[in-house]
Amino acid sequence: MTTSKLGPVNNWEDDFDILDGAYLNNPFEIWDHLRNSCPIAHSNRRGSNWLPTTYEDVTKIAHDVATFSSTQVLVIPFIESQSFSYENINPEVLGYGAPPITADPPLHTWTRRLILPWFSHKKVSEYEPLTQAICKKLIDKFSKRTTIDGATEYAQQIPVRVISHILGVPEDMTDIFTTWVRDFLEFADNSLNRFNSIREIVLYLIGVIEERKILLSKGQHLDDMISFLIQEQKNNPEINDAIVLGMSILLLIAGIDTTWSAIGSALWHLGKNPHDLLMLKQQPEIMDTAVEEILRAYSPVTMARVVTKDTEFNGCPMKQGEKVLMNFPAANRDPKVFENPETVDLKRKINRHVAFGSGIHRCGGANLARMELKMAISTFIDNLPNFMVDNDDDVVWAGGQVRGPRKLPLKFIK
Ligand code: HEM
Repeated sequence: MTTSKLGPVNNWEDDFDILDGAYLNNPFEIWDHLRNSCPIAHSNRRGSNWLPTTYEDVTKIAHDVATFSSTQVLVIPFIESQSFSYENINPEVLGYGAPPITADPPLHTWTRRLILPWFSHKKVSEYEPLTQAICKKLIDKFSKRTTIDGATEYAQQIPVRVISHILGVPEDMTDIFTTWVRDFLEFADNSLNRFNSIREIVLYLIGVIEERKILLSKGQHLDDMISFLIQEQKNNPEINDAIVLGMSILLLIAGIDTTWSAIGSALWHLGKNPHDLLMLKQQPEIMDTAVEEILRAYSPVTMARVVTKDTEFNGCPMKQGEKVLMNFPAANRDPKVFENPETVDLKRKINRHVAFGSGIHRCGGANLARMELKMAISTFIDNLPNFMVDNDDDVVWAGGQVRGPRKLPLKFIK
């Protein structure tokens, strides 16, 4: 079992580390332990961080945006070093982070409003045929084989292609986008790679935005999301170039490893539980509840908040500048809210999970993520109905900000 570079954890209550090998492989037991003992853990390992584990605490914090700000949402903070610099990039361009996710009101309110129509039910249904075609093309590549890596050959390939289409960036860049996103969010212990990845993303998107502006100024009709943001600048002077860049960064990053993690977890679950696989094949009408249950049980995303003023929360003395890790995944396993939370019940009726967050920052792309998940699972089981996890010891889970399988050996039973 791997341990993080900060050494193994002996006491989860006051020295937790979400990059510890035990946490990556099986966080569920750790949350259960903490929920019964603290229930808000603390650690000084990566700055001063709090880790709530109950549904009530996580949702209360998510709703108190005045005390818990979204201006620092990375769960593994950047370690600043003098050797890092954003040479050639105007620092003003970076001044807004990646709204709406890194913004508090009022910036949050109108930047969120700007993107929501792009992820409405109606709009998302337009991306369905494309998503299905992507899934089918991937399956055709490996359908004659007996084994595949379901994480890298399937799950990972789908959301990045869909979001590339929406943003109007080339599909042949998908491997590069994936590498950037992984270096930025997953391999967060490697500060240099992490810095370089965000730098590459920023430089790439600055180039795309410049190019789009030139084409639009020549009267070309462009219907991608980045061009939409540029065109909206005419209607709203608040949408400056930094906002367009920040929102483009968010849209590129937010839609990739989150959804691929959920698709991978779904395949892992079905490949480990043949009765659930059979049930889903025989009763495709349960797909909606099945997807919600996969999202609840294997929630991928943990976000962070920064404390804006000294406060006492549920008995914990939180100081200004400390971070709170928004443990949506642990909230979704809270037995006070979910009956038998450790049981994955694909027909679960009452399921008010917070995999997409809670409060004003609730996931802007939830409709898209749900559609991609349904399409990825149904296309897979329609074409390759009999599969299983080849060897669970070979499955590699990533964690930290986004949890999901990064290596998933699957075997087909012909
Ligand atoms: C299964 C897949 C996904 C999960 C589990 C997920 C989860 C989340 C969570 C937990 C938040 C709240 C962040 C916070 O409270 O700080 C969030 C926000 C957001 N997500 Fe997702 N997400 C997924 C897919 C997507 C996709 C496909 C997109 C589209 C590009 C997207 C776009 C966004 C945006 C724009 C926000 C910011 C909303 C705001 O701050 O108002 N997400 N997501």
